[in-house]
Amino acid sequence: MKVLIHQTQTTAADCVAGLFADRLTQTPDTVLGLATGGTMEAVYERLIARHQDGTVSFNQAQSFNLDEYVGLTPDHPCSYWHYMREKLFNHVDLDPDRTFLPHGDAPDSEAEAARYEAAIVDAGDIGLQLLGLGANGHIGFNEPTSSLASHTRIKTLTRSTRQANARYFDAFADVPRLAITMGIGTIMRADEIVLLAFGAGKADVVAQMIEGPVSAACPASILQMHRKVTVVLDEAAASGLALRAYYEEVHPEVRDPAI
Ligand code: PGA
Repeated sequence: MKVLIHQTQTTAADCVAGLFADRLTQTPDTVLGLATGGTMEAVYERLIARHQDGTVSFNQAQSFNLDEYVGLTPDHPCSYWHYMREKLFNHVDLDPDRTFLPHGDAPDSEAEAARYEAAIVDAGDIGLQLLGLGANGHIGFNEPTSSLASHTRIKTLTRSTRQANARYFDAFADVPRLAITMGIGTIMRADEIVLLAFGAGKADVVAQMIEGPVSAACPASILQMHRKVTVVLDEAAASGLALRAYYEEVHPEVRDPAI
């Protein structure tokens, strides 16, 4: 794992946007794996700015999002379809026919999950996967105790995840109990993974993910088994790392780009 500890959220988000822009420049037809959540908004803002100034184009890329709530239509204001249109798709040149999320309103959710997994396989799997990190260690909606080999399927959300996401809904009771999510095995097939986490609230789980045992109790810890993962943190999110000084020594250029 490459662990990059930035002084601020601003430079951490700049870093992640830069990794995506570089990949799109080198490999314009990359299959992108995209994420939602508060943390990603800063990344998408920067990618939109780079698109607008002509330094990045998505026109040959395609994208698959990690997850969607079961029961929400793509037009529902709390759906991840809606989030993606608002935060990225409406502002860049990704072909709408090549942007994919699970359909939370499909009549048969299990069949929809299987169809989505097959579509990812047909696309040749994810080239560059963007991940956030749940305070409980989830990636996508792979909650603690998820199979570390899982494929896209239905997961029941934990109460803590529903509470964390209740801020987007009128009431806690409105937060769906189920989601369709790429599996951990699906995510692990990605060629390259970039995970971004901000803030002191994530410090404990960041330490578990990077330095704890590989365990389904912290699904993100499986990333220790992936060949090419970059974890981008701000100082607050890095504050629980026992080997923090070592990561900073390995990548001094993060603090001082002149190096
Ligand atoms: P957040 O969500 O960016 O809103 O903290 C992260 C996640 O749950 O994956």
